[in-house]
Amino acid sequence: MTTMIYAHRGASGTYPENTMSAFQAAVLASADGIEFDIQLTKDGVPVVIHDETIDRTTDGRGAISDYTAAELARFNAAARYPHLAPERIPTLAEVLAWADTYPALLLNLELKAYGEDRSRVVAAVSQVLQETKGSNEIVVSSFDHIVLAHMKEAHPELEIAVLTMGPLFQPEKYIENLGATGYHLWSPFVTEPVIQDVQSAGVALRSFTVNDERQLRDFLSWGCTIFTDFPERAVKIRSELRL
Ligand code: G3P
Ligand code: MG
Repeated sequence: MTTMIYAHRGASGTYPENTMSAFQAAVLASADGIEFDIQLTKDGVPVVIHDETIDRTTDGRGAISDYTAAELARFNAAARYPHLAPERIPTLAEVLAWADTYPALLLNLELKAYGEDRSRVVAAVSQVLQETKGSNEIVVSSFDHIVLAHMKEAHPELEIAVLTMGPLFQPEKYIENLGATGYHLWSPFVTEPVIQDVQSAGVALRSFTVNDERQLRDFLSWGCTIFTDFPERAVKIRSELRL
């Protein structure tokens, strides 16, 4: 399997996470793909942001689910980067439309359910995919595996990946049962034998979040697709390794 480099929340080591500038920087760094987090606003619009609240990453305060999309658009998602221009929290539709101009860019949509009504999440994300999806290859992941099962029911053609902080027992069986094809596993649990076992079962193993140079070298030389905050660093190491 090809060893891909996904920019985690975009090039979030150097740009504000989950923003258009971080995604654009990932493309400039020659990342193969971008990973980003999705939640619903009060009025059911899928937006791209990691935390349940806007406190850490913007100049506002409060829960995403308490704001409509129009209200959220007032806040600056680049607030922690005063040297950069202000940016809005992107909507999923905006990111998909932008990504369509880079058709080879892989997209990993991570659905954050955070106690949200799952059918509401599935319906809202499905609608945006139907209206806006271009030619990019998409994989949908979530720590909430019930959401994944529902997404797969709604879109049998969609690629699904099980996201987990800990290793699964007999992962290939668990993954197959969900109709998934990918295993997104936290890096401390990833070793060369784990990669070989999983990949020989035909499952795509992708690991998060790999930033350290030594770890990047190991994971890439083992043939493991990674999520990194520093795509430029990862791409450079991959080319040094002649992979
Ligand atoms: O999808 C991989 C990774 O993003 C999962 O963790 O908390 O960074 O969304 P988190
Ligand atoms: Mg994520």
